[in-house]
Amino acid sequence: MSGARRERRPASDSDSPTINRMPTLDAALQRGRRTLSARAGADARREATFLLAGVLGITPGQVALQRGRQLAEHELDEYLERLTRRARGEPLQYIEGRAAFRELSLRVDRSVLIPRPETEQLVEAVLRWCRGKEGLLGLDLGTGSGAIAISLALEGPFTRVVGVDISAEALNVARCNADEAGVGGVVDLRLGSLFDALRSGERFQIVVSNPPYIAVGEALPEEVRDWEPAVALYAGPTGLEVIQEIVDGAPRYLAPGGLLALEVAPGVADAALQRIRTRGGYGEPRVIRDLAGHRRIVLAER
Ligand SMILES: C[S@@+](CC[C@H](N)C(=O)[O-])C[C@H]1O[C@@H](n2cnc3c(N)ncnc32)[C@H](O)[C@@H]1O
Repeated sequence: MSGARRERRPASDSDSPTINRMPTLDAALQRGRRTLSARAGADARREATFLLAGVLGITPGQVALQRGRQLAEHELDEYLERLTRRARGEPLQYIEGRAAFRELSLRVDRSVLIPRPETEQLVEAVLRWCRGKEGLLGLDLGTGSGAIAISLALEGPFTRVVGVDISAEALNVARCNADEAGVGGVVDLRLGSLFDALRSGERFQIVVSNPPYIAVGEALPEEVRDWEPAVALYAGPTGLEVIQEIVDGAPRYLAPGGLLALEVAPGVADAALQRIRTRGGYGEPRVIRDLAGHRRIVLAER
C-alpha cells in the first residue's frame, strides 16, 4: 500500500450546510454569538444556547455537555431561522413558543403578553389570601395566556376560575394552556370586555387582574413595543382607564369579604388606591412591592 491517505477536513463553522460537513454545537454557538452580539451583547452566547437547546429539544445544560455533536441539516436550518428572528428583536419566548410562569411552561404567541415575574407575585399574593379557604370561585380579567387563571386553578382551592379576554386569539392560547395543564375543566374561558362576559348574579371570592396599564405614547422597550400585542399593553391616554373600570365594577361581582387583586404600574399605584377609596364598597387597600421595590400589587377586600 502506498500513497498518502487523504485527511478528511474537519467540519467548521464556515462550511456549507451539507450532510457531511455540518457544524458541531460548539461551532453553531460561536456563530450564534456573533449573530446576536449586536443586540444581546454579553447575553449573546446564553441566548444562542437557549435557541439551540430549543431546536434540539434538550436543555441548555445538555448543549454544553454535547458541544462536539454535529447538527443535522434540518436542525441547522431551524437554528439559523431562529437566530435571524432573534437578531431582528423578536422575544425569545415567541420564537420558542413557550414562556415559564411559576411551575408552568405556557404556550405563547404574538396574540398574548409574555407573562412576567411580577405577575407570579400577584398569584402568590392571591394564594396567600386563599390559605385556609376552600371551594372558591375566581375571576381573572384579561386572562391572556391564562397564566393567572391556570396557576390559581392548579395551586389554589378553586372549584372554578373564569378567565375573560377581549381577544379571541388570546383565548385560544389560554384554552390550549389550560388543557395542557390538566385544568381545562376548572378554567372557564369567556370572550368579552371585562364584566360584560359575566352573567348577572355571578359572584366571586376573588377578582384578579393584570390589566393593560400603559398610557398611549409612553416610552416602552422596543422589544415590548414592537412585538407584544397593543391591546395587552395600552389602557388609554392615562394608563388608568382599565384599572378604573375594574375598580368601579368589581364590587358588584365580589362576594362579601371577597378580594380584588390588581397588578398596576408603579406610576399609577396612587391613583388606583385613590379610586378604590373614592369608589367605596372596599376596605382600606394595601400595596405590595415587587422584587425591585416598586409598588406593583394593590389588594382591597369588599
Ligand atoms: C397585561 S395583559 C395580561 C395577560 C395575562 N393575564 C398575564 O398576566 O400575563 C392584559 C390582557 O387583557 C386583555 N384585555 C385588554 N382589554 C380588555 C378588556 N376590555 N376586556 C377583557 N380583556 C381585555 C388583553 O387582550 C390582554 O390579554
